[in-house]
Amino acid sequence: MLARRIDRLTSSLVRDILAAATRPDMISFAGGLPAEEALYQPSLPDGKLPDIWQYGQTEGEPRLRELVAAHGRSLGLDCTAAQVLIVNGSQQGIDLVSKLLIDEGTPVLAEAPAYLAALQAFRLFGADIRGFTVGDNGPDIEALQQQLAQTRFTYLTPTFQNPSGYCYSDAERDAVAASLDAADGILFEDDPYRDLAYDAPAPQPITGRLRRARWVYQGSFSKTLAPGLRLGYLIVHPDFITPLTRLKQAADLHSNRLSQALVADCLERNELAAHVASVLPIYRERRDAMHVALSQHLGELASWQVPVGGLFFWVKLRQPVDMRALLAAGLDAGIAVMPGDAFFAGTPDVSYLRLNFSHADPAAILTGAERLAALLHEANRLAALVA
Ligand SMILES: Cc1ncc(COP(=O)(O)O)c(C=O)c1O
Repeated sequence: MLARRIDRLTSSLVRDILAAATRPDMISFAGGLPAEEALYQPSLPDGKLPDIWQYGQTEGEPRLRELVAAHGRSLGLDCTAAQVLIVNGSQQGIDLVSKLLIDEGTPVLAEAPAYLAALQAFRLFGADIRGFTVGDNGPDIEALQQQLAQTRFTYLTPTFQNPSGYCYSDAERDAVAASLDAADGILFEDDPYRDLAYDAPAPQPITGRLRRARWVYQGSFSKTLAPGLRLGYLIVHPDFITPLTRLKQAADLHSNRLSQALVADCLERNELAAHVASVLPIYRERRDAMHVALSQHLGELASWQVPVGGLFFWVKLRQPVDMRALLAAGLDAGIAVMPGDAFFAGTPDVSYLRLNFSHADPAAILTGAERLAALLHEANRLAALVA
């Protein structure tokens, strides 16, 4: 017999689409994959690798924890290395934090829309997920404040959010921090896209603005270096480090030591900033190419804002279509897209598509937009016939 929670276990639509999107002629706007040419290629040490072949510490390699804590302080977080837990990708951070804070029925406040694999984890542990809208004009702070009265644990991606691309302003961050403090809440700030800022640097995290509320701040090396490293980190309020470390012990003993050594070398040599600086022009060009391609082919079919960071366009269709049918027809026609409804915990808004612009090159982005427009015209034509 399977555990009761397995009834709540949903498959991640994005991983299912990615599996279907491996055909060589497929143009994928579906996942959040970095460009192949943007992947960090670490130089392996000439001689012997450092001593990494023995079991390591659950919390992570001390050298890397120090470097991560220094980075946290540079972002305004009040932290030391003792508050850092290195994880196998930030998705593991979401799993561990869910185990730490969610019982069956625990209310969890999240943005609507929100990162779908976080919703998947929260649901698995039985969360009662409540949402507040993050629209083109930003978060509905009043709704957030009302919800905070009943919901202590809040999950946010305030910087170049997945999927909406929205970046909270300084004033919005201050307002959210003040509300969390007033409610004595717990903030889980998921921040993997911070460095992918195309127009202006992102404002400081909300975490560093808190005075009273407890917090978990999460970062990842997937989007800046390479997702295959499977490396991310949690920097947490002192109350949380011991139970989280025990949860990590129970899950996998410790994160991969080879990846940790490679990333620590990269940070020590200041290569992360240099690598990101080399990647930004590639992504900026692709973002602009997608805006041009969408304007050319979807101008009458949809609306969107040009994202100031991150990896996605959040595109609102003027006429809602059957998303699953669109997805299937897209895979047949060689264009993989991500239906937006999967990013809503409650009643989904079915008029959105999330389109990734980092993986396909500018020429493929144009072809992909053409293919998508043809599908949408056909879907609208069929809907008009039925109506
Ligand atoms: C908001 C957010 N959090 C966490 C993750 C997981 O990233 P990783 O496990 O590669 O660090 C992603 C990946 O797309 C994401 O968008």
